[in-house]
Amino acid sequence: MDSLPDFPWDSLAPYKERASSHAGGLVDLSVGTPVDPTPDVVRAALIAAADAHGYPQTWGTPALREAVAAWFARRRGVPGVNPDGVLPTIGSKELVAWLPTLLGAGPGDVVAIPAVAYPTYDVGARLAGASPQPMRSLTSLGPMTSATTPKLLWVNSPSNPTGQVLGHEHLAKVVRWARQHSVIVASDECYAELDWREGAGGSSSGLPIPGAVPSILDPRVCGGSHDGLLAVYSLSKQSSMAGYRAAFVAGDPALVGRLLEIRKHAGMMVPWPVQQAMLAALTDDAHVAEQRVRYGIRRGHLLSALDHAGYRIDYSDAGLYLWVTRADLEDAGAGSGCWTILDEMADLGILVAPGSFYGAAGGGHVRIALTATDERIGAAVHRLAHRGQGD
Ligand SMILES: Cc1ncc(COP(=O)(O)O)c(C=O)c1O
Repeated sequence: MDSLPDFPWDSLAPYKERASSHAGGLVDLSVGTPVDPTPDVVRAALIAAADAHGYPQTWGTPALREAVAAWFARRRGVPGVNPDGVLPTIGSKELVAWLPTLLGAGPGDVVAIPAVAYPTYDVGARLAGASPQPMRSLTSLGPMTSATTPKLLWVNSPSNPTGQVLGHEHLAKVVRWARQHSVIVASDECYAELDWREGAGGSSSGLPIPGAVPSILDPRVCGGSHDGLLAVYSLSKQSSMAGYRAAFVAGDPALVGRLLEIRKHAGMMVPWPVQQAMLAALTDDAHVAEQRVRYGIRRGHLLSALDHAGYRIDYSDAGLYLWVTRADLEDAGAGSGCWTILDEMADLGILVAPGSFYGAAGGGHVRIALTATDERIGAAVHRLAHRGQGD
């Protein structure tokens, strides 16, 4: 196995210490952990399922798998998800970390990952003993030979950290290419309901129009066949359930069957009360719309404060982060600009994440999370507006 990377968050300790010494206290916008209460509808379902004396089904209850299929049809514009091709996971991080292993990747295999990405795609390839291959585009992978053709290709839209959304034409090109080369595509889509583009939130539920953020399983993307495709989704963010560990994978029933077989042997099962809570979350759109409004307000305040303070926001069309740089830092070379911004923010008592945590190509940016209380976001906005005035 390629050695695992150092856990990078430890390197933020000095910045955190400095930011924490601010008179108004620390505003921690570095990690994306939800801060709002888990919705009542979800908690009630968990409590009602507290008597869980028997083992849960690794595959998930039929009701949960059917609810996932119905959610894809209702919320993602994806009809025809086969409940046999749905599997709950213990949060999505574990699936991301173990998917290459579960699919049988090993030494000599390549796992293609976005050049600027959530770090666990890289970790998952290494855990399998395979080689992570960061890619900016399909052509950047070079000519395909048996040694260079990936076994698995990850896409992540909306992206963590950049907030970029891939359109259905782009994704369709990826799927066509993958099928031509017999590559499995896994698509991590957990920020799909947090679309901030003009007109998003325009459906009567207050949520994005289904399909506005296309799934890999969207018929426009895959031609209606889910062969070779897996969509990965998490309820951590849209339903403030990060502590429940509640996520799922859906798509090609043959691929899901392979995952299921190993997961059954390995005891990788979602607790039954959590499965019941997931079922409640997936059948209630109102709490997702409410949560979306909270994040949208925080985002609006932060975005305009950063803009007025001279920063530039790139992409950030969807998701829970702003991808921030400054023109002068970019001119100075993309590699290390993030640390200059980290420094400036620490002086204001604000902790952000350096873009270099997400790949060398991210070094000119910082990632600023929207996951703080209104009070803390307000403090950050006030400090950005009064920079240099001793506040
Ligand atoms: C892109 C992406 N995938 C997966 C995850 C993991 O989410 P969870 O394990 O809470 O489902 C995160 C969490 O931040 C993420 O940003």
